[in-house]
Amino acid sequence: MNKEQRWSKSSWQTLVAAQQPNWPDQASYASVLADLERLPPLVFAGEARKLKSDIARAQRGEAFLLQGGDCAEEFARCTAPAIRETLKVILQMSVILTYAGEKPVIKVGRIAGQYAKPRSSDTEVIDGLELPSYRGDIINSPEFTEAARLPDADRLRQGYFYSAATLNILRGFTKGGFASLERVHSWNNEFVSNSKEGKGYERLAGEIDKALKFIGTIGMDMGKERDLNQVDFYTSHEALLLAYEEAMTRCDSTTGEWYDCSAHMLWIGDRTRQLDGAHVEFLRGVRNPIGMKLGPNHDIDEIKRIIDRLNPDNEPGRMTMITRFGADLIDEHLPKVLRQLKGEGYNLLWSCDPMHGNTYKAGNYKTRSFEAILKEIGHFFHIHRAEGTIPGGIHFELTGEAVTECVGGGSDNLEAHQLEENYLTSCDPRLNGRQSLDIAFMIAHLLKHP
Ligand code: PEP
Ligand code: CO
Repeated sequence: MNKEQRWSKSSWQTLVAAQQPNWPDQASYASVLADLERLPPLVFAGEARKLKSDIARAQRGEAFLLQGGDCAEEFARCTAPAIRETLKVILQMSVILTYAGEKPVIKVGRIAGQYAKPRSSDTEVIDGLELPSYRGDIINSPEFTEAARLPDADRLRQGYFYSAATLNILRGFTKGGFASLERVHSWNNEFVSNSKEGKGYERLAGEIDKALKFIGTIGMDMGKERDLNQVDFYTSHEALLLAYEEAMTRCDSTTGEWYDCSAHMLWIGDRTRQLDGAHVEFLRGVRNPIGMKLGPNHDIDEIKRIIDRLNPDNEPGRMTMITRFGADLIDEHLPKVLRQLKGEGYNLLWSCDPMHGNTYKAGNYKTRSFEAILKEIGHFFHIHRAEGTIPGGIHFELTGEAVTECVGGGSDNLEAHQLEENYLTSCDPRLNGRQSLDIAFMIAHLLKHP
């Protein structure tokens, strides 16, 4: 199907959809989808439009995007402490980046719906037994048994309700005082004084202290200023499971346009962005801001055609390119991509995912090294500056919890033999809370001293 043909929220169904499960019980699958269509939207079209206008500002260099959260959320970890800790670390990072970059930071979680995962193989073999791969909690369960790995349509319903519960507490935390600037800054001060590495960040933290004191000195009441006590926090996930996304897609009554109301922002993965595939078809018709992952394995002419199809009017704020080349390949690929695309005059936000090109195995554990992550980020900034394009965002897999999934890191400096201590992810390794703050202070340095 091409762009001249009519889009509907189900037009993707006539095309090849990569990475979809085979639902064994078609009757219950159809009934769950019908229920989801009737349930209230999780987010509003107006919120997605606000995010789009924020991203348009970032495209002009007037804001910076911070997107982060789990690789794969899990139903069993949908608890207030887990959600609070991830939100807390994103808010802490955003204060550091706002101050250093002198720009507002747009906060987007990989949260409240990041439940479906693309896999490199449909099946997994252990000791001669072949079972369907784990595809995320919204589809099946990670235990290696036949029953657990069978796609279960009721999980789609549960995914909706877990997303709703997560969003509800996020809205409470971000609008109810938890996110106040003073409080977030005091957490940062705690990190700085409690960590060996944190001492190096004292100067920046001290400058923020002074700025906050100044606000008080000129007579503003920090407790009363709405903007100092509430933040806009947006949700996002990979738009992978198209039937779920279709069921959550609604026509906005004020504009007559279609929005995928499962999250504010959706992204298209590196494995599902085929020009004539179902994912591009579905996303071209919804008006949310869209991210597109871009790894080493791509054809630049196809990428241009996908951008044309997803954003034919070159609408500002619509497209975020999330590059994930890896620390060793970014120098080879990013300059070429930027040169090819900047001549086209596209409105794009460039964001760096320093996680997905840097995964390797250490013994039995999938891991990533803090040094490689930092190296990719550093090169991302330098290459954009050399090419005259804007390094406008960053995309992390992180958690606020004290997991041991990535090695290295200034404050933690985890070694490979420590990975087993608290390795919790069911998919990719995440930066823990302290590693995330270390990275934020290091990016602060890149923003302040280009
Ligand atoms: C992800 O973001 O978890 C992911 C699977 O990324 P990519 O599509 O870039 O491999
Ligand atoms: Co991942």
